[in-house]
Parts: sequence; C-alpha cells; structure tokens
Amino acid sequence: MKEVKYENLDKMQQRVIDEAAKVMNTAYNPYSNFYVGAALLSQDGQIITGSNVENAAYGSTICAERAAILRANAMGIRTFDKVGIIARGEDFDTTEVTAPCGSCRQMLYESAQISERNLEIVMATTKKDKVVVATIEELLPLAFGPKDLGVDVKKYQ
Ligand code: THU
Repeated sequence: MKEVKYENLDKMQQRVIDEAAKVMNTAYNPYSNFYVGAALLSQDGQIITGSNVENAAYGSTICAERAAILRANAMGIRTFDKVGIIARGEDFDTTEVTAPCGSCRQMLYESAQISERNLEIVMATTKKDKVVVATIEELLPLAFGPKDLGVDVKKYQ
C-alpha cells in the first residue's frame, strides 16, 4: 500500500480515477448524499464504471464498486487489472481516500481470483490531492474465495 502523487501515477491508473470521477456524479444517493464512483479496467483494456445506488431499505444499497462489477458481468467481462475509486459529499470534498467497504472487498476478491491477478485498487480524494494504491490482498488478507470451493477460475474468465 503506498501513497502516490496523482501526477506520478501511470496512464491507466490516472484513467481509472478520472473515469470514476465522472461517473460518481450519477450516484442515486437520497439518503447519504454521498457520491461514489468506481471504474474497472478490464484485462482487455475496457473501462466499466459504476456509481452507488441507494434504497429506502438502507441495507439494500449497492456500492459503486459492486455496481461496476455487476455491469461488467452483464457485458460478459470478468477479468480485471485494476479499479479506481473516488468520492465526494454533497457539499464537501473528501480529505482522505475512500476505500471499498467490506462487502465490496469480498466481491473484488472474487474478481481477483477469477482474474488470476492481485487486483490493484487506486483510491483518490475528490480533488485527487491524495492517492493511495493498494492491492486486494493488502485490503483483504487471508481471504476466502472461489478457489477455496474448488472453482475452476479459467472457466469463468
Ligand atoms: N459507498 C460506496 O459506494 N462505496 C464505498 O466504497 C463506500 C460507500 C456508498 C454506499 C452508500 O450509498 C454511501 O456510499 C454511504 O455509505
């Protein structure tokens, strides 16, 4: 896990943050007024984005990261290289990076095992003045995944 200046990210790391920043404005967030955007980079170079979708039954809310994974799946895409995550409040900018919640880490871990890659997670503050780059294994150590159930990951790539 390391803090990197936005200017020093590579092109695709910047791209996932920039695409996440665009899509975060589509969040459906009447309860929290918190906007989150996620942008997956697939292994074949496509960007698939998602934003958070809340629900009156609060627990039914879907985070931006999971929204992006579901959208990718419906496009037939399950193998990823990295994901960018960014957020803002209705009337405030974040001053610390927004990291994926526990449920999203678990879903990202599933994607990482199917991808056969230690998925890179690029997280930025609203103004991109702080960026942290981590791997899914750093965010969710000793995780449980499809391989533990004997899933042939190649079959689902
Ligand atoms: N949220 C995300 O979409 N992703 C995260 O990584 C953190 C939380 C959303 C869920 C909810 O709509 C709002 O942020 C406040 O928790």
